[in-house]
Amino acid sequence: MLSAKISLDPAFVVGPVRPRTFGSFVEHLGRCVYTGIHDPGHPSADEDGFRGDVIDLVKEMGVTTVRYPGGNFVSGYRWEDGIGPVEQRPVRLDLAWHSSDPNWVGVDEFVRWCRKAGVEPMMAVNLGTRGVQEALDLLEYCNVTGGTYLSDLRRANGAEEPHNIRMWCLGNEMDGPWQIGHKTAEEYARLATETARAMRMIDPDLELIVCGSSNSEMATFGAWEHITLTESYEQADYVSAHVYYWEDEGDLASFLASAVNMDRFIDSVAATADAVRAAGKHSKRIHISFDEWNVWYQRRAESRPPSGDDWPVAPVLLEDKYNVADAVVVGNCLISLLRHTDRVHAASQAQLVNVIAPIMTEPGGRSWRQTTFHPFALTARHAKGEVLCLAIDSPLAETKKYGEVPVLDAVATHDAATGEVAVFAVNRSLDSELMLTAPLRAFPGRRVVEAVTLHNPDHTWAATADDATSVLPQSNNTAQVSPVGDLTVTLPPVSWTMLRLTGG
Ligand code: AHR
Repeated sequence: MLSAKISLDPAFVVGPVRPRTFGSFVEHLGRCVYTGIHDPGHPSADEDGFRGDVIDLVKEMGVTTVRYPGGNFVSGYRWEDGIGPVEQRPVRLDLAWHSSDPNWVGVDEFVRWCRKAGVEPMMAVNLGTRGVQEALDLLEYCNVTGGTYLSDLRRANGAEEPHNIRMWCLGNEMDGPWQIGHKTAEEYARLATETARAMRMIDPDLELIVCGSSNSEMATFGAWEHITLTESYEQADYVSAHVYYWEDEGDLASFLASAVNMDRFIDSVAATADAVRAAGKHSKRIHISFDEWNVWYQRRAESRPPSGDDWPVAPVLLEDKYNVADAVVVGNCLISLLRHTDRVHAASQAQLVNVIAPIMTEPGGRSWRQTTFHPFALTARHAKGEVLCLAIDSPLAETKKYGEVPVLDAVATHDAATGEVAVFAVNRSLDSELMLTAPLRAFPGRRVVEAVTLHNPDHTWAATADDATSVLPQSNNTAQVSPVGDLTVTLPPVSWTMLRLTGG
């Protein structure tokens, strides 16, 4: 058996646990909106056509913010199509996903859904085919109380109170050549800066996110952030980061180490933002909105959009079936995001329902939790208070993509109000158990109140509508605190674990 040690102390703090770390994303893509959150014929649908079973799962998952309406979709979107009487709304081509959108759901419905689901809406504006004026119009429609054409139009459409949306993404993945209206860094930097400046004339306190890179492998990564932030620094609050991981040709070891890439990505973006800060003599810091991250098997048939004359409404697209190893990687990404809580102030797992999602639905039928649901839900529920700065002493393992990586990864949180300590850990070994020890000298009197591990000897096990519960996080009975105050627990290979300690 391998062994590793973590040291934790309430005096060593990275920063607060930020509720917005547990955000998600709903795009007009495949069945995320239609038959995902919205399915008027479903037995649990409410008066707005929203599925009650999905809202319950979103609440159980602990999602805090939801980004909308895209994604690649937003770069060709006319927000005006989605307001007013539903029967008068146009059907439009969605070029990003080669689909048709009947606009049954638009901004007013989305915000209503957010209120019902208890989540904060986060809005993206189209800086692909559109620009400053359309962003201003949408902002006026959403956030101005009344007395102007667009705010009164919102009221006439049934939303008396302003939507009061605080977080706004200035475009989506504008560095990507696949993006409708793709731009060079210089072109985007100018447009984002002027859009932000004008939006702040309506509401100076908005939280504005400029596009960073679509992933750290982009040829323009680093230069894009530098150019964009140099221009927009005083107007921006966040720069975005996006990444998707998948198991490449059976290389499980590298896949399990995906969070090493996420750590390096975050560190590089923060360093770039700080370099711009120094050069520009700025005082504020730019934070990171990691507003798309997940496991996504992009090369599988599930991700191939329709083609030719076929422009379906809500086609089956990106409906990845997640296995146990995928859930371990998702849990590890959350560990990475928490560890960077000083710089990552918001994050959105992409996406929420059906599309690379923790929640799956049948149209008009059942809904279920994928394996990836569980580490998200448990982390969102139990990571409270402050994130601790851990010293991790772990054996290393060789990986093709990232070189030598620690076999153990972990993060811990401490809630000073209740005294509770939560530890989230992954064992990235493919075949060895790992004995984790944590001396609790700085947390005297703590005992284990809950220890659960997500693992299965078959790491390819995936949940289905017929069997979503054969593999759930199970009690880990090896967890204990010795009389001298050493926490020990055995972590099976390819596993994610949560430990909760109280007392003291
Ligand atoms: O989440 C799926 C897609 O991935 C989004 O539309 C896009 O922003 C990213 O490339």
